[in-house]
This record gives sequence, C-alpha cells and structure tokens, in this order.
Amino acid sequence: MPLASLREVLGPAAEHGYAVGAFNANNLEYVQAIVSAAVAEGSPVIVQASQGAIRHAGLAYIVEIVRVAAREADVPVVLHLDHGRDLDLVRHCIRAGFTSVMFDGSALPLEENIRLTARVTEWARAAGVSVEGELGRVPRVGATEDEVRSMMTDPDQAARFARETGVDALAVAVGSVHQMTHQRAVLDVPRVEAIRRATGLPLVLHGSSGVADDSLREGIRAGICKVNFATALNVAFRRGLVQALAEDPDGLDPRPYLARARDEVAAVVREKIRLLGCSGRARDKA
Ligand code: G3H
Ligand code: ZN
Repeated sequence: MPLASLREVLGPAAEHGYAVGAFNANNLEYVQAIVSAAVAEGSPVIVQASQGAIRHAGLAYIVEIVRVAAREADVPVVLHLDHGRDLDLVRHCIRAGFTSVMFDGSALPLEENIRLTARVTEWARAAGVSVEGELGRVPRVGATEDEVRSMMTDPDQAARFARETGVDALAVAVGSVHQMTHQRAVLDVPRVEAIRRATGLPLVLHGSSGVADDSLREGIRAGICKVNFATALNVAFRRGLVQALAEDPDGLDPRPYLARARDEVAAVVREKIRLLGCSGRARDKA
C-alpha cells in the first residue's frame, strides 16, 4: 500500500476508542520488525523517525525503506517525524515524502509555539501531510514528581492551541516521562478527558514505555489515540543483540545477531499493538 497519513489512521481510532502505536525506528531491522509485527496483528501502524535517527540513517534512506515496507504490507503504514524541533528539517521531511510530521515547540513560550506550529501546519496542508503539535512538556527520566506535574498540559491553553494552529493531533503532558525502562508512571486521566473535551483532537501520548498497562488503557478510553514507544524497543533490540552475542561470541556474520534483535523488537511491537486494542483494525474507516 502507499503510505497513509496520520489523519487516516487516527480518525477511526478516535471513533472506535482504540489507539494506534507509533514506534521509533533507527535502522532497517527496526522498520522490518515494526511493519512485520503490524502485518501479523492486522493493525495500522506509525513508523516514526526522530531527528537523531535521521542523522544516523539518512533522510532519503528512511523514506525509501519505509516506503518499501509499506508497499509490501497489507496494512496502513504512516511515516512520521518524531519531535521535529528544527524547522528546516520539518520542511525537508514534508518534501521528502513523510506523511506526517511533529513540530515540537513545547520548550518555547506559548505564543512562539503557536506561531511556529501554525506555520508548519500551513506547509503540511499544501502537501497533504498531517501535523502533530505539543503543548506542555513530557520530561526525561530523572524529573521529580513536582517537575512532571508542573509541566502538564493546561486544557484551556490546549483549546486555544488547537484553534490557532489547526494541528491534526496534540501531544500532551499528562504524567508520562521519556526513557523509562520500567512501567511505573500513572496518567492523570481526568486531565486527558478535559483536554480531549476542550480540543476535540486525537491526543498523543509520549513517554509511553514507562506507563503502567492499566493506566494506559484508561488513558486510551479518555481520548489518547496515538501512543509512542521508543525505549521499550531499544531495550528489546539490545537484549536480542546481547543474548545472540553471548551465545556465539566469535561469529563474524552480523546477520544472526541483527535477526535476533529484530525478532525481539517485533515481539514487543506485537504485544503493544494488542495492549492498545489495535489488532485487527487495519481495515477500519472513519
Ligand atoms: O517520542 C517518542 C516517545 O515519546 C518515546 O517514549 O521513551 O517512553 O519510549 P519512550
Ligand atoms: Zn516523545
């Protein structure tokens, strides 16, 4: 199938009350793992690349690898820029074939965040590309509870942000934290409900690897429609590599090691797709 846009997969998710997984890819094996897991689950999927992944793999390589994966898949695949902070890069991604971009202005003052996000929305609209904005800040691991709370998204500001930027989806800070390796975070579900009511937008959860499963399910019932995972995949990739290297420390062929890492990532992606209620949803239409 050709690449799908974020709007196409989040519309049905919002209507039917499930979430679509957005999985960070760093190389060929990650893309293969993510898309093969989605195919096995009959699920739409979002493959996302961060600025760091683009520096590592190269913009054109990422676009072509994900296009080929999508072409061979019988499920919708979205190619999304994750945490785009550099406007030039956001524009390059729109031109290069990404079907969705995130402009992350969450560290900027509100007015500036609105102004720049609206500019990205204007560029993206012209190209048929979807846009995710962020309001509030999802911190990195190490933040104190008070810091996490002080950065949370304000529903009234979110309503204004939605109106003035025209984004298709909104990333919210509701208790999750980036780069957690254990699922200990609990979401502020009433806040998710309030933001959803105030904006009417599909909401995006970042830092999802560290959120307890039950809390994540509640968040989805309250309006979260896109759920981002990077750390859980990195843990799986590393585990596969380490185990394969330990079993055959002298091997020279890298393929068995990479294949094992890919299998571990695919298993985690399948588990997360089921958790989000997204299995079997590939043919949903809004
Ligand atoms: O943008 C990517 C995700 O927010 C990653 O979250 O560190 O919990 O996997 P994670
Ligand atoms: Zn994130």
